[in-house]
Amino acid sequence: MSQKDKLIVFDTTLRDGEQSPGASMTLDEKVRIAKSLERLRVDVIEAGFPNASQGDFESVRAVARSVRESTICGLARAINSDIDRCGEALADAESARIHTFIATSPIHMQQKLRMSPEEVVERAVAAVKRARKWTDNVEFSCEDAGRSELDYLCRVIEQAIKAGARTINIPDTVGYNVPSQFGETIRQLLERIPNADQAVFSVHCHNDLGLAVANSLEAVINGARQVECTINGLGERAGNASLEELVMAVRTRQDVFPCETHIYTPEIVPASRLVSSITGFAVQPNKAIVGANAFAHESGIHQDGMLKNRETYEIMRAEDVGWKTNKMVMGKHSGRNAFKTRLEELGVNFETNEELNGAFARFKELADKKHEIFDEDLQALVSETQHEK
Ligand code: KIV
Ligand code: ZN
Repeated sequence: MSQKDKLIVFDTTLRDGEQSPGASMTLDEKVRIAKSLERLRVDVIEAGFPNASQGDFESVRAVARSVRESTICGLARAINSDIDRCGEALADAESARIHTFIATSPIHMQQKLRMSPEEVVERAVAAVKRARKWTDNVEFSCEDAGRSELDYLCRVIEQAIKAGARTINIPDTVGYNVPSQFGETIRQLLERIPNADQAVFSVHCHNDLGLAVANSLEAVINGARQVECTINGLGERAGNASLEELVMAVRTRQDVFPCETHIYTPEIVPASRLVSSITGFAVQPNKAIVGANAFAHESGIHQDGMLKNRETYEIMRAEDVGWKTNKMVMGKHSGRNAFKTRLEELGVNFETNEELNGAFARFKELADKKHEIFDEDLQALVSETQHEK
């Protein structure tokens, strides 16, 4: 048995992910995605914001009724009506969590909430206590923590834990932080808050500067034990930290991370495909882990290395994240060895070296004209060579 801590994976594809402009989903689609997240063994599924609309309420309730293996979470502002609606939507869940939040940065408190820091602490405490009437599993978030003052964050969080929050989430709401700074914030919070050991510290990073995954990982190295993320990095504006990248970074670099997730990684690609087809958001080919080229090799040098030992150019196995296999793309950079191997896989064996060299020369001519050479092209090319004999 491993001695490592568990890293809790909290997926918010159905809530923050749905906040991507153009990504709204129907109730049935949300249930399909939730079932896919359950197969992935995601620990917590944030299913929506029940008081946002009747549709959101019904979707959260439907997810709570159909998923048994993951905890189902609903989002609520620090307002009684939001919290109670959330509690009602989650009533049938096997395991339920209420996630309540209020902003703690000077700009949000002054300009958006128009509340004093003292009033925000009072509101946070009241919200956590209200949520605790529904469930013991309460998460509290300091919205825009990434731009909040550290002393003030310590004060709010200490009070939220005293009121009964068991998960404390530190969002970098506008993706403003850089890894070293964000990691240091987590380290300081854990060190300075006297009752920090009574809660799990979580992070929720947005990707405005393309740093969401890096910031989350640095937070984990500094003591966070829950990461909030979405499939394909979907989410408000530039999105959230991507689940597949976080999970595979932690799994691949166990030498660096003091914890591990319980995610069933072969379900990663199916989940990515499902979310992409439902939302209509295409996955870029060079996207880590789930992009079509993530395990494709074209250059002759790489293909030759791969044929000798996969680990020359692969740090993960394609099959471990749900691809059927890695892919040797036949193109103008491919070498003779890869060409010969692919043809052998197609059942074509050359009798002489001259024959192989002739076919390879024709292949290179064709590859100069065509981006990717498919198996059908190879078969046509070989049968032409053989007919000319
Ligand atoms: O980005 C954010 O701050 C949020 C909170 C509601 C957690 O999504
Ligand atoms: Zn967010």
